[in-house]
Parts: sequence; C-alpha cells; structure tokens
Amino acid sequence: MSERSKFTPLTTFEEFRDAVSAYRLPRILLAALDLDLCTVIGERRWTIPQLAKKLAVSERGLSILCRNLAMAGVLVKQGESYRNSRLGATALNAGHAAYRGDYLDLIKSHWKDWCRLDESVRTGRPLDHDEPEEPDYRRRFTWAMHHRTLETAPKIAAQMDLRGAATLLDLGGGPGTYALAFLAKNPGLRAAVGDRPAALEVARQIAATHKAGARLSYVPLDFTHESITGTYDIIWYSNVLHIYSPEMNRAIFGRALAALNPGGRLLIQDAFLHDREGLNPPDASLFAVSMLLFTEEGNTYSAADTTNWLKDAGFGRVKVLRLKRGTEDWEDGILEAVAPGKRPGTRARRTRSRGSSTAR
Ligand SMILES: C[S@@+](CC[C@H](N)C(=O)[O-])C[C@H]1O[C@@H](n2cnc3c(N)ncnc32)[C@H](O)[C@@H]1O
Repeated sequence: MSERSKFTPLTTFEEFRDAVSAYRLPRILLAALDLDLCTVIGERRWTIPQLAKKLAVSERGLSILCRNLAMAGVLVKQGESYRNSRLGATALNAGHAAYRGDYLDLIKSHWKDWCRLDESVRTGRPLDHDEPEEPDYRRRFTWAMHHRTLETAPKIAAQMDLRGAATLLDLGGGPGTYALAFLAKNPGLRAAVGDRPAALEVARQIAATHKAGARLSYVPLDFTHESITGTYDIIWYSNVLHIYSPEMNRAIFGRALAALNPGGRLLIQDAFLHDREGLNPPDASLFAVSMLLFTEEGNTYSAADTTNWLKDAGFGRVKVLRLKRGTEDWEDGILEAVAPGKRPGTRARRTRSRGSSTAR
C-alpha cells in the first residue's frame, strides 16, 4: 500500500507559497497555447525577432516566454534560436496529425473555470449547468475525450482479459475510443457505444477511420432514466461514475445488471480514492473539484463505497483489477463486478504485474 501516491501535507508558509506558485508553469504553457506558438514554429527554427514579428508580439515578452518553454521541454533553445521539441512539434502543433487540439481547448477553458471556483463553492452548483447537454458542446467534449485517451485505451485493453466474451457495451463511451481498442484486441468481439446522440455522431466518425469500427454499433440513450436495451457479456463504464451521486450510481448499476448476461461483468474505471478520509490519491481528490465545477451532483468515491453500491444493486463478486504502473488512466485500478449466474470463460485474468485484490 505504501507505493500508492499521497500528497505531502503543507506544514510551513514556504511550502504553502511554493504550492500556490505552482500556477506559474501551467500559465506559461497555456500562454503558449493561446498564442498558437508551437503551430507557428512548426518544423522551422526561429530567432526571437523573426518569431515576434510573425506572431505580432513583443520581443521582450516572447524571449522570456520561450526561455521558460525551453526550460519546460516544449521548445529547444539553440544559441539565440528556438525550435519545437518532439512534444511541441506533435501534440501541440495544429499542423501535425498527432495534434490534440480538442483536448487542449478543453484544458484552456478549464483554466478560466477553475478561476471561478469560489462561485461553485458558494452555491454548490456547477458554473454553467445547462451547457453539458448542448449538442455542440457535447461534440467538442467528445473529441476532447478521444484526444485524451487515444494512447491510454489500447494499453488498458491489452490488459483486460475478455476471452469468452462475445459482446461489450461501452456505456457512456463517448468517442468509443475504448470500445475500438477492445475490438482491435479481441477479433471475435462485437461492441456498442451507449451515449447521447451528439457523442455518438463523433464516435461514428472516429470508427469510420478504424478497421475494427465495422464491429461497432451505437445505442443512443440517457441511462439516468432509461433502461439499457440489449444484453452484453461485458459493460465497460469508464469515467462516468464520478458524474453522478451515490444514489444515481446505484440506480445505473441496477440498469447495467439488467443488461448483463448471467456471469457477465461490469468493469468500472474511475478516479477511486484510496484512504478512509477520502484525501488521496491527490489526482482523485482534485478531480472532485472538477465535478463540483461541472456537474450537478458528481464527486469522487472510494472503491469500497462503490463496491457497497454494486452489492446493493445485486452484483456478486467485486474486486479490483490492478494495471501495470504507468499504463493506467487513474492509479487505483479498475473495479470488476460480476453478475450472478455462471457464464464459462468470461472470468477476469489476474494481471501479472501487480495482481488483483479485493476492493476495500
Ligand atoms: C467523461 S466522458 C467519458 C468518456 C469515455 N468513457 C472515457 O472514459 O474516455 C463521460 C461520457 O458519459 C456520457 N454520459 C454521461 N451521462 C450520460 C447519460 N445519462 N446518458 C448517456 N451518456 C451519458 C457523456 O456524454 C460522456 O460521453
């Protein structure tokens, strides 16, 4: 348990000052995005006067910004000139196929939203509570989710043993990035993405560019008040648990159970808290703040509490599947809940790296 991450509490004013001052590097990185710096730099090497002219900014400002971006690894400084690092030239450069623009736009908007945290703390409400259902927002958010997970999903799919499973539902699957990764890894599998219609539009576009996309279908639904049509051997429920209250999650688990074949499995990936007080890991604790800012009732939860809700909903065995370090979306693993009844060949493999353990 000691290897699990934990925030080192601040004890002195100097530590507090340093923690607060951590905004500086994020602000520098976001200023680079706001100026489209890596896109303008592209494949070339630039002196500051050349680049300042091109961007229509001051040489003094750009020189200090670029020096810091070189310190951070986004740019490379060679004498008096700068070029993109590999990161700057790819994920941060709109001229490159690996550009993650939709996710970068989401991060930029989050900076502005986090600056209004006091408002949400006062009201207990999200900042713009109508926006998440708006189709244009949903499409942009769905692309952002694809850009967020396109490298993680195959790594996770590689570790999930789906032998014996013929059907999978990616519930709240958004862009279907995980469903496609599971399909690519398991040639005999068929999958569906269940989500809102605007998210499914994006999922269709992405699937059209993948060979495995031919085995993907689409289920438009709102699972907070509709039952799930069809039955599946596996339901993959990734990054949705935190959007809802414990009560709503119990209800959703009940609908998921009704849509699982006997012995089928619900696999939950989320930012699980791992200590009794709900303070750590830091990423999971901090993520609850995003849920305050952007959702009506979301939060982050422990695997132990989630296990209790799963049992209340009628699931049998529940355990945590641990992933290889460095491959996870969140560090505290994936919760596997098995529907009552026997279905041979659908058991989860104990992952070799760190094994599995019973949920706390
Ligand atoms: C944070 S995204 C996660 C996307 C993907 N599962 C992943 O892990 O990257 C949450 C997804 O759940 C969908 N979702 C949330 N509540 C929903 C509901 N009540 N009915 C249908 N989809 C919902 C959202 O539209 C969104 O695509």
